[in-house]
Amino acid sequence: MKNILILGGEGYIGNALHEYFSKKKFRLTSFDNLIYNQKNKKKNSNKYQFIKGDIRKKKDLKKINKEYDAVIFLAGLVGDPITKKYKKVSSDINETATKQVIKEIYKKGNAKKFIFISTCSNYGMSKSKYLTENHKLKPLSPYAKSKVKIEKFILGLKKKSNFNPTILRFATAFGYSNRMRYDLTVNQFTKDLFIKKYLEIYDFNTWRPYCHVKDFARLIELVILSKKNLTAYQVFNAGSNKNNFTKKKIGTKIKKLIGGKIKYLKKSQDKRNYIVDFSKVKKILKFKPKFSIEFGIREILKKIKTDINFEKLGNYKIKS
Ligand SMILES: NC(=O)c1ccc[n+]([C@@H]2O[C@H](COP(=O)([O-])OP(=O)(O)OC[C@H]3O[C@@H](n4cnc5c(N)ncnc54)[C@H](O)[C@@H]3O)[C@@H](O)[C@H]2O)c1
Repeated sequence: MKNILILGGEGYIGNALHEYFSKKKFRLTSFDNLIYNQKNKKKNSNKYQFIKGDIRKKKDLKKINKEYDAVIFLAGLVGDPITKKYKKVSSDINETATKQVIKEIYKKGNAKKFIFISTCSNYGMSKSKYLTENHKLKPLSPYAKSKVKIEKFILGLKKKSNFNPTILRFATAFGYSNRMRYDLTVNQFTKDLFIKKYLEIYDFNTWRPYCHVKDFARLIELVILSKKNLTAYQVFNAGSNKNNFTKKKIGTKIKKLIGGKIKYLKKSQDKRNYIVDFSKVKKILKFKPKFSIEFGIREILKKIKTDINFEKLGNYKIKS
């Protein structure tokens, strides 16, 4: 049985990890401050323990003083809009506290593997096609700027045998999770076309890669189970080359399945534009995503009828 600590385990990706790992020989400890007032309906068991805590608070962090096979770092204010809305909270959590927690784990050496979830948003706006991990980063939002700083901090730590960090630059996630985020492109487009039968798309010709949340869970499992020499101090783009799409292409795929009307707006709200290369993760970790955009859309359509209070299902407003 592997003992895994997930910092920020009650979010969109954390819940997908819980669902996937609950069927495996993994014992999860989830540490989260439930910043969106999200409800955690999962029961503590010998395979899952929830600790309510804030990475900004030293006394809360004392509650997680064990040895772990892996620590997965997901905690933070996630996404461009929410970090622009709460700039100070964002830098307190995504930079100051994140750095402090990583320093502690490094000092204690209590995690055999440390997995930091970063983002392809770090590439910002780029004309070059198929950006590899070595490409220059041009973060645009406070969200991505913090991720770039933390990546640099981790890679700058002096190597030692009991700290084995891996950085995964996730593509934009999609698909259903028990903590749903309808503020993510595929999920939001599906919701708008299904509920309102109408969708507005800005920056419709901008490119971005996408990956299903279940595939991210499979990738994290691969990192945990791989030999350290393949993963330590490595950065991987996480996704697949064939899932780079423009927003217009995503809209068209969804419209094909649901119908409705799409309006393409001239105004620009999000200048991010990047096509990413995922050959490294495929070659070294043999990672190939299984779930298509269409699978994700159909899965959301099955569940969406029971979702209410859409304004709470996403990263819109933090608790005061
Ligand atoms: N969802 C995506 O498309 C995507 C893409 C690239 C990278 N990522 C990365 O994956 C990770 C998880 O993203 P997500 O989509 O699940 O976001 P999310 O907002 O659903 O989850 C983040 C979790 O962190 C918790 N949290 C926030 N501040 C905290 C604090 N101070 N102390 C403890 N917990 C705190 C929140 O309560 C939430 O449960 C993030 O690091 C994000 O940058 C996500």
